[in-house]
Amino acid sequence: MERASYPADEAASAMRLEMRQREAGEFFMVARAVDSMDSSVLEDARASDASGTAAAAERAALDADARSIVGYVCGTLASGDVLDESTMSSHDPSGDVLAIHSVCVDERFRRRGVAASALAHYVARWIVHDDTRRENDDDDDTTTTPTKVRRVRLLCKENLIPFYERYGGFALEGASAVEHGAETWFDMVLDLA
Ligand SMILES: CC(C)(COP(=O)(O)OP(=O)(O)OC[C@H]1O[C@@H](n2cnc3c(N)ncnc32)[C@H](O)[C@@H]1OP(=O)(O)O)[C@@H](O)C(=O)NCCC(=O)NCCS
Repeated sequence: MERASYPADEAASAMRLEMRQREAGEFFMVARAVDSMDSSVLEDARASDASGTAAAAERAALDADARSIVGYVCGTLASGDVLDESTMSSHDPSGDVLAIHSVCVDERFRRRGVAASALAHYVARWIVHDDTRRENDDDDDTTTTPTKVRRVRLLCKENLIPFYERYGGFALEGASAVEHGAETWFDMVLDLA
C-alpha cells in the first residue's frame, strides 16, 4: 500500500515500516474495511445469506474482507522538536514528540472519509485528559500509564494542509527545510499538553 501510494523517492521501505511497527507498535494504527464501510451494508449482506455450508463460507469470506486493512497511520517518538531525516528513521522511546510518517489509504477506499476518521482517532488516542493523568499519577502500576505525547508533528504537501487542519486540529508552521522527494514539505504541529 505504501509503495502504491507514494512516489518512489518518498515511500518508506518495507524494512523501515517493519522497524516502525516493531519498535513503535503502539504508534502504528491500522484502519480496517469494517470501520470504513456502512455497517448496514455488511448486515444486509449477512442477512441475505441462506443457511448452509456455502452460506457459512460466504459469511466467513465477507467477515475476512471486512477485517482487511484499508489504511494506516504510523509514527515514532522523537525527543527533538524538529522533524528531519533522523527523526523520520528512528524511534526514541523517551521522546515526547510524536512524528507522524504515513497517513495512507488503499486507493480503492479513498474519498470515503477513511483517512479523516483514522487521523482523528489516532490523535485522540494521545490526548491525556486531566482526570486520567491524575488517576495515573496515583497508580503504582506504570504499565497502565499511557505514553505521554506532548506534541504531534508531521510534514505534508500543500494540498493536504486543510485536511490536517480540519481532521487533526494541526496548525501550519511553515515550509520545512527537509528535502524528501521533489516537492516542498510543510511543517504541521498539534500541541496536546
Ligand atoms: C491523502 C489520503 C490519505 C486521503 O485519504 P482519504 O481516505 O481518501 O481521505 P478522506 O476521504 O478521509 O478525505 C478527507 C478530506 O481530505 C480531502 N482530501 C482527500 N484526499 C486529498 C488530496 N489528495 N488532496 C487534497 N485533499 C484531499 C477530502 O476532500 C476531504 O475533505 P472534505 O472533508 O473537506 O471534503 C490518501 O489519498 C492517500 O493515501 N494518499 C497517498 C498517501 C499520501 O499522500 N498521504 C499523505 C501523506 S502527508
